[in-house]
Amino acid sequence: TTSPVKARAHTNIALVKYWGKKNEQLIIPQNSSLSLTLDQFYTDTAVQFRDELAADQITFNGQLLTDDGQRKISRFLNVVRDLAGISMHASVDTVNHVPTAAGLASSASGFAALAGAASRAAGLALSSRDLSRLARRGSGSATRSIFGGFAAWNMGHDDNSSYGYPIEETVDWDIAVVAVVLNKTAKKISSRQGMRAAVATSPFYGAWVQTATRDFDTVRQAIADKDFETLGHVSEENAMRMHALNLSADPSFTYFNADTLHAITLIHELRDAGYPCYCTIDAGPNIKVLCREPAVTAVVTKLQAAFGNDAVLVAHPGPGLTFITD
Ligand code: DP6
Repeated sequence: TTSPVKARAHTNIALVKYWGKKNEQLIIPQNSSLSLTLDQFYTDTAVQFRDELAADQITFNGQLLTDDGQRKISRFLNVVRDLAGISMHASVDTVNHVPTAAGLASSASGFAALAGAASRAAGLALSSRDLSRLARRGSGSATRSIFGGFAAWNMGHDDNSSYGYPIEETVDWDIAVVAVVLNKTAKKISSRQGMRAAVATSPFYGAWVQTATRDFDTVRQAIADKDFETLGHVSEENAMRMHALNLSADPSFTYFNADTLHAITLIHELRDAGYPCYCTIDAGPNIKVLCREPAVTAVVTKLQAAFGNDAVLVAHPGPGLTFITD
């Protein structure tokens, strides 16, 4: 039996999205992606490997997991056990501070925290790059949540070369992300299924890879230049192209609902009124609005008037993986 280890990781919002795999088993993506880690939404996970356990025992927000949830985590723990050369089962206790499966990417913070806690509990002392490669095996977007601030996932071509790295861990820029929760229920089509369908059937998939590759360089440069208009504009275009892949898949599908379109319209109106703000959307109906501090009040007020006070949350750049001692 090992000592218990607890880790915390925050979610990230992709500005240049990952939407498609080259290798499903190792989770090697079709393009490099770039994100901002957020301070408001995070996962705490405690792991202990224990001699007496006959199976992995996984609780999520106090509930014992069975079936699919349990299998996904156990498969991930197998990767850790292989690396560490141990065979004990683990108890995993996860508390999520993210609205689950509503497009606020809880799998990113979840697998980043699990990679940290499980590897250290198993006696491994991994570098952040190796932690990001491990987190990647659970969920692609988790690769970037090992790092704070602006982070990237280098697509690479195999397990070794596909890793996350920091672009600007401490963000000295007054960037804010206003998140609008339009639907708290779990999505019907997981990211995994959705991106698989887009790769296999969208006639525009090749154009996506090309434009996303260009967007990566543009956004990276915009961060270096503190050029908010370019960062926001390109991020919004990138998100809309990702969602266009889904509409152009066969069968066609979308994560948008009527409120999503309404929210996009409101953001465009704010922009026309002189407030620089841009939206991005993941695999769910919720929208996140990128803005700078002076525009936050106007954005929040308009979105609260449309969707209610409780639907609107303000986040800022957040930290990378940390270990917690109670
Ligand atoms: C739209 O990381 O959830 O949020 O690797 O299959 O677990 P799997 O997918 P996941 O997909 C995230 C997709 C996205 C864009 C992004 O975060 O880059």
